[in-house]
Amino acid sequence: MPEVTLEAAKRLAAKKALELVAPGMRLGLGTGSTAAHFVELLGARVAQGLDVICVPTSERTRALAERHAVPLASFDLMPELDLAVDGADEFDSSLRLIKGGGGALLREKIVAMAAKRMIVIADWTKSVRVLGKFPLPIEVNRFGLEATKRMISAAAKSRGCEGEIRVRRMACGDPYVTGDGHYIVDCSFGAIACPEELTPHLSAIPGVIEHGLFLGIAKAVICAGPDGIEVLGKLD
Ligand code: A5P
Repeated sequence: MPEVTLEAAKRLAAKKALELVAPGMRLGLGTGSTAAHFVELLGARVAQGLDVICVPTSERTRALAERHAVPLASFDLMPELDLAVDGADEFDSSLRLIKGGGGALLREKIVAMAAKRMIVIADWTKSVRVLGKFPLPIEVNRFGLEATKRMISAAAKSRGCEGEIRVRRMACGDPYVTGDGHYIVDCSFGAIACPEELTPHLSAIPGVIEHGLFLGIAKAVICAGPDGIEVLGKLD
């Protein structure tokens, strides 16, 4: 499939999500190329007079929102949101997600859980039968990195998941540092047969800040493909 079709699918999903936005809403804005389409389209509606107020999940999204004159609020002054719209690296038919490919998973999860509804927008390539083909991102504390990696490895192994755990690096070779000053490790576990069994073990590790498994958080996935839009879950 040519890249342009992929981008068109992302935009189509974003456009569908825009239909859920009503005047006066408090919105969470996701991070990534799909969420960027939503921010751009939202900016066009704001320019036409739509009244919304938003919280971004990354500095990248903040900059994009500012460029499109989307009104932003301090999250601490507006800690409850009506709707969060974000992309995903993978989703399955039970609305379980892997997120964090863009390095913003901690803020994305906080914002998603502060919203009454989290809606995922995605192109069809993100749909999987079993999560885990995309390496699971885990945000970790810098201190004790190697010890934390070992603990992640042991926890995963106890739940039948094994694979390379690699510190995410930038093109220059330095470790990628998140907006909150942490590292990210990408875990190539392959199929994660039972994510619900794995997550408590990951969360119990002191050096783990947050993992990229979003379970029971998304209310719906708007998936756009060559044949149009499919909605999993409930949009309202
Ligand atoms: C950001 O940290 C991620 O969770 C993104 O939502 C995810 O990587 C999807 O990004 P794209 O829309 O660019 O595929």
